[in-house]
Amino acid sequence: MKKKVLVTGGTGYIGSHTAVELINEGYDVVIIDNLYNSEEKVLDGIEKITGVRPVLEVFDLCDHEMLGSFFSKNSDIAAVIHFAAYKAVGESVRKPLEYYRNNLVSLINILESMKKHKVPNFVFSSSCTVYGQPEKLPVTESAPLQPAVSPYGNTKQVGEEIIRDTVDADNMIKAIALRYFNPIGAHPSAIIGELPHGVPENLVPYITQTAIGIREELKVFGNDYDTPDGYCIRDYLHVVDLAKAHVVAVNRLIGGKNKAGFEVFNLGTGKGVSVMEAISSFEKVSGISLKYKVVERRPGDIEKIWADPSFANTELGWKTQSSLDVAMKTAWDWEKQIRKKS
Ligand code: WQD
Repeated sequence: MKKKVLVTGGTGYIGSHTAVELINEGYDVVIIDNLYNSEEKVLDGIEKITGVRPVLEVFDLCDHEMLGSFFSKNSDIAAVIHFAAYKAVGESVRKPLEYYRNNLVSLINILESMKKHKVPNFVFSSSCTVYGQPEKLPVTESAPLQPAVSPYGNTKQVGEEIIRDTVDADNMIKAIALRYFNPIGAHPSAIIGELPHGVPENLVPYITQTAIGIREELKVFGNDYDTPDGYCIRDYLHVVDLAKAHVVAVNRLIGGKNKAGFEVFNLGTGKGVSVMEAISSFEKVSGISLKYKVVERRPGDIEKIWADPSFANTELGWKTQSSLDVAMKTAWDWEKQIRKKS
């Protein structure tokens, strides 16, 4: 019998890539998503790649009653991966209560339902934003967390604390929090990828939309940082590598191989890349000369951050496989593919 994994937010960017990898690993995937920031047709893509169409239940995780009746029908779930959340940093500053309600109420509802129905394994989407600007680089999991710079970031910090306390209370639930660095790219088939609504906030979709002609030019936020070339530095990892880490985390929890009730892992490449290096990589793989202009720094931007992924490398046996160039190429292939259709 296939083991069942619930993926909340499974029609979203990282969720859909993870659904593919879970199905490839032989799991039975069930998705809950309210389609707030994604589309049902993503299921067609997942089916095209894997040959399997996951079950989708469309409702809001803040709806305690709906979630309760879902778990009553699905108490055989072996593990939950919780992606569903609001994620726009700037928007969270304008709408803090919506962010706290959505991200925290849904998390509490899920953990309560898991306890009630004795579903023991939980994987949480966390973020490198919890580190703020680290004093030492690369940053390890034991680095002190900094006060969050946005309500969004705070929901990830508080979320981790809620999970830790829940695990510590009675050890009924075991959990892994995965702190993502900067996920980019798309499935190599170009059948699924990132679908940002409106003007993209993130660098890579902005680059690909500029190259295809939807945006006039990329605004590069600052070139006077204390870094080798003056541009901000991030750790960009391919979304398929990131998706695979979730499969490893689920295997670890289901197999009882976790060493503590609550574990935290950095997911990154370990390599810092500047905005200009990211642009050069895109230009190289696409053959396009990108239109960009250096403008003021973006408020709230961290100067430089990249992961020390050695804990994930040794403990999970997980390591990123794709280079920056490969990740950029998949992002570009995806952009060309979606524009061809519409
Ligand atoms: C990357 C670099 C920008 C856009 C992300 C997520 C956030 C959190 C942490 C998950 C920065 C520069 C960008 C543009 C630019 N992730 N840039 N022009 O800020 O690292 O945050 O990771 O929880 O939710 O958004 O990613 O892609 O926005 O920026 O120059 O138009 O690109 O200044 O240096 P960031 P990003």
